[in-house]
Amino acid sequence: MTWTASSWRDHPILQVPEYPDAAVLKDVENTLAAMPPLVFAGEVQALRHQLGEVAEGRAFLLQGGDCAESFSEFSADHIRDTFKVMMQMAVVLTFGLSMPVVKVARMAGQFAKPRSSATEVIDGIELPSYRGDMINAIGFTEEERIPDPVRLLRAYHQSSATLNLIRAFATGGLANLEAVHAWTLDYVKGSAEASRYEEIASRINEALDFMRACGVSSANSRSLRETRLYTSHEALLLNYEEAFTRQDTITPEGSEFSTSAHMLWIGDRTRQLDGAHVEYMRGIANPIGMKCGPSLDPDEMLKLIETLNPDNVPGRLTLIARMGAGQVREKLTPLLEKVKQSGQKVVWCCDPMHGNTVKASSGFKTRRVDDVLEEVRGFFDAHDAVGTYPGGVHFEMTGANVTECVGGDVAEVKEADLSDRYRTFCDPRLNANQSLELALLIADLLKQRRDTPA
Ligand code: PEP
Ligand code: CO
Repeated sequence: MTWTASSWRDHPILQVPEYPDAAVLKDVENTLAAMPPLVFAGEVQALRHQLGEVAEGRAFLLQGGDCAESFSEFSADHIRDTFKVMMQMAVVLTFGLSMPVVKVARMAGQFAKPRSSATEVIDGIELPSYRGDMINAIGFTEEERIPDPVRLLRAYHQSSATLNLIRAFATGGLANLEAVHAWTLDYVKGSAEASRYEEIASRINEALDFMRACGVSSANSRSLRETRLYTSHEALLLNYEEAFTRQDTITPEGSEFSTSAHMLWIGDRTRQLDGAHVEYMRGIANPIGMKCGPSLDPDEMLKLIETLNPDNVPGRLTLIARMGAGQVREKLTPLLEKVKQSGQKVVWCCDPMHGNTVKASSGFKTRRVDDVLEEVRGFFDAHDAVGTYPGGVHFEMTGANVTECVGGDVAEVKEADLSDRYRTFCDPRLNANQSLELALLIADLLKQRRDTPA
């Protein structure tokens, strides 16, 4: 049972690419192991502490970003716009809940995708599936679908540049609460969501004016001018994660941390109890997540929790439920009851995206904003029924003006519009309008729960 950063290699593994040249892969792994870490253990511990507050019901988690980052959609504007939307959603939720919101991006490392099918057929031609830019290319040719280890290096460098900009935005002025009005993206301006947001922003400005009069301003208070946006991704490629597993030098216990992101999660397809992914994740000191889909049995879930968080540390484990709007109440309730009975401290987070993917008649993979909201509602109801705390939400979203999910209030995307700006490399994302609208609706739901005594 001894854990090392490479003990996962002795366990059965799913969803691994087959690289044609093992020697090149080994070379890349060695190069990655010599690269500087992307995050520092102290930051990772700070996130675990903040998630501990979520586990205890004193804070709320907002996790979001691309389904799959890509090499071609990489630009300062793309990062800035997603950052701004995350900030807006966080402000709306903080205002609605009167609680700290812990912000975790699916960014700076979210490149590798698990696939339901190993191959894809188009017009009678069968090729290996696209598995994310970190593994192979999206183009539909034999050549492009061959896994290339050099892509791991490119993903690392892109993650490093992304994180650099996120840190600059978080501490260099863009996150200043006094700039709360400036986060609205141009294409969102004028919408109903924008005007509701403006109302909240104006009330925040009033509060800031009052505080300034009392001597507290962004000039003398860091918490008004800076924020923290943590990073996360699915830990799918364990050789990449192994290369970034580093022993911490500041804590006496010298724990091993994954330094590729602050938080990692195990996908719904790779959470086998004796599998390689669970083996790797049980040994790192980071806060971790586990996706919980409708096939997860309550007893199996409890064994996974005991393996992944044997010391029952609050904030160590986030369970990310992704059941689908139609079955969230029925499937989630037994899991919540099991955890409650066991006394395990976990963060319960709702991913209302992955159980609600449908095919539009035009063939596009899409999600309906109504289904997304309906799953969040079901998630809250299930928690109310069991008496547990609904700790957060997890979205696939982007600041880019895409048409990938259908619905939304004013700038409604209809099925016929999907082809306008359908740009995702994997699953359909909410655009800024849809993201903001959902944050406003969720803040309303949470406010109602708070104001209605149980
Ligand atoms: C994802 O989060 O992009 C994903 C693939 O989720 P899941 O493992 O829940 O299907
Ligand atoms: Co996805």
